[in-house]
Order: sequence, then structure tokens, then C-alpha cells
Amino acid sequence: MSIYSTLRSVMRFRRFERDPVARRLRKAANVADLRRIAKRRLPRGVFDYIDGGAEDEYALNRNSAVFRDAVFRPRVLRNVGKVDASTTILGKRVPFPLVLAPTGFTRIADSPGELAVARAAARAEIPYTLSTLGTRSIEEVAAVSDGRKWFQVYVWKDRGLVAEMLDRAAAAAYEAIVITVDTAVLGRRERDVRRGFSLPPKLGPGTVIDGMVHPGWTWDFVNADPISFANVTGKTVGDGADAISLAEYVGKQFDPGLSWDDIAWFREHWDGPIVLKGVQTVEDALIAAEHDIAAVALSNHGGRQLDGAPAPLHLVDPVAEAVGDRVEVICDGGVRRGSDIVKAVALGATACMAGRAYLYGLGAAGERGVDFVLDHLSQGVEQTMTLVGATTIDELEPNLVNLA
Ligand code: GLV
Repeated sequence: MSIYSTLRSVMRFRRFERDPVARRLRKAANVADLRRIAKRRLPRGVFDYIDGGAEDEYALNRNSAVFRDAVFRPRVLRNVGKVDASTTILGKRVPFPLVLAPTGFTRIADSPGELAVARAAARAEIPYTLSTLGTRSIEEVAAVSDGRKWFQVYVWKDRGLVAEMLDRAAAAAYEAIVITVDTAVLGRRERDVRRGFSLPPKLGPGTVIDGMVHPGWTWDFVNADPISFANVTGKTVGDGADAISLAEYVGKQFDPGLSWDDIAWFREHWDGPIVLKGVQTVEDALIAAEHDIAAVALSNHGGRQLDGAPAPLHLVDPVAEAVGDRVEVICDGGVRRGSDIVKAVALGATACMAGRAYLYGLGAAGERGVDFVLDHLSQGVEQTMTLVGATTIDELEPNLVNLA
């Protein structure tokens, strides 16, 4: 035996991967790895806008900590040869209980932005929620995805503009609207304050070095169409084409006078299901259930709004107890693994929402990064169900989880 064949028999050589995206993905085993890769690829300001939370980031960190500290009470010897993670969300079948959350300015992670995420969601057969502050329009997203699409609504003071967007979403066959109710003003995102971060990111002298250190992102950014709020382009409210501070924009344009009475206005303007996102107490879930809505999304906006907000996972059980027979309960905030989704569903959630998880995938490896994340989460749900002894979503019960 030659030295070479001896070596070959004891060592496993990995072929050099020529495709840089595949090369990056090959190094990733989970969402945390994609976050690390995205951190390397994206300019610091862009990464921090996506990754950061409000003030001291207590809510942001609590969201993940509560998932981490929830421990299963796994059951054994339950014949888990076949596991089926499929369930329904808003009455329609999904292969596993996940909805992609709305995220503003998605194109700063990678220029195809919302189009890439919507396509990946359609492939995974789960709903994708387009943000009002999206950087691809209602129609552009509908043109690339015939999968399930939800439209998230912020409420501009100009109510005519909101009504028009709802009509456009209906015309483009969006299934549901998601009214975000936790953003009367924008949370104080101190990473953005420190960096003087604007949207879209300014490529001025201060960012030239950052741009040189992140050539892949910079090349993509300068060669793609300029970024703006694609849903309000050409309107008087400002479409974000000139660099703005998001906090100022929200302060000027959004209606802090929004109240429960306005849900009736939405009901008049939208025929389909309404999801209320940002509910953070049992009391409000009870009020919500009295309005004609289909689901509450327990959410603190990924820890980006009120820093003293409760972790959504803590609310799932009491809210499901109080209103679970009348409305669906979605848990959003800190979802990074399939096991997180299983914990929330066991405690009574219909499904989870995740935003940052796919943005890390998008920032690390574009559309294929999003596919990777959805596949990882789906497989993680099945693997966890197998290990806790549940063969169907119906078998996921609160007594499978100890919440710290
Ligand atoms: C937008 O919704 C944000 O949270 O930045």
C-alpha cells in the first residue's frame, strides 16, 4: 500500500467546494452558525439593526433564555417509528407549525430580500408575512410566490393609504392581515443610536472601510436597485428612498391613537382572517378574542420595542387557557430551533413565528440560507417530537414541558 492510499484509508478528505454559498452553508449546523456567518458578511450597522433589540436588550435576551430554560418531560417507549408534524394554521394544512414573521427592510440582508424569503416559504409550504415596511411590494411578492401570503399592517396616520394597501393585498390574493399593535412609537434601539444607523444604510465616508471589509455585501448593495419602502413608493408619506432614521419615520407617520375601536375599521376593509400581533397579557388576549379576529400573536417584536416586556413563551399557556378555544395562538420571539417550536406548541400555541432566524440565513447565504433555516427548523420539530414521544401535533401537551 502506498503512503497515499494508507493516508486515504484513515483520513476523510472533503472535496473543495467551489460554490462560495455552498461552502458557507457547509460550515453551518444551526441558526447560531448562520448568525455568525451573517455577522462576518454584513456591515456592522446592518447586522446590528437585524440582531439588536431595545435599550438593554433584556427582552431580547429573555425571549431566548425562556426557551433555553424550558425543559421537556420526555416520554419513552411510545412507538415513535412514524412522526407527523403537520397541523393547521388558520384552518389550512402546513407541514409543521411555523409562520415567517414580517421583517422591515429585508433587502438590507441580501438584495432579493422579501422575494427570496417568500419563495423559500412557498417551497416549505408555510405562510410568509410581508411587512408594510417591506422593501419589495405586495405585488412583487405575489408575482414570485403562489404560496400562502399574509400582509402585516402598520397604521399610518393617513388611513386612506392603509385602506389602499389592504385592497392591494386582497387583489393579490393575500390570505390574512397581521396588525402589529406594539409599535405606537419605535423602541429605542441603542445599537442603531450608537452607530447613527439610517435606513437604507448610507454608504458615506464613515462606511467605506466597513464596505471594504464586507465586499460581498457591498457589491450586492451597490449593484442592486436602490432600497425603499416598496409599498408606499410614490406616496406623500416618504418611501425611505432617502436615508431616514426609522424612529423618526415611525414617529411622524404612524398613528399612536390606534385603539380597540379601530379593529372594526379593519373588519370593514378586510374580508379575510385578522391576526393581532403584539398581544402581551391575558387581559388583552381576552379583549382581542371579543373582536372578530382569527389569531393573537404573542410577541414583543423580537425584543425591539418595550425592553421590560414579558417573554411570549411565558404567555402561551395562560393565553391558550383563556382564549385558545376561540382564537389561534401564535408565539413569536426567540425561535431558533425546532425544539423551541415544539415547546411552544406543547404549551398550547397553534404555531410559532420566526423573523431573525431566516434573516440570519438570508444574510449568510441568500435564498439558500433561508431554505437551510426552514429545513433545519422542520427537521428539528420532527426530531424533537420523536425524542419526547409524540407522534402527532395533537399529542404535544403542556405536561411535556416544565417552564422555568
Ligand atoms: C421594524 O419593524 C423593526 O422592528 O425594525
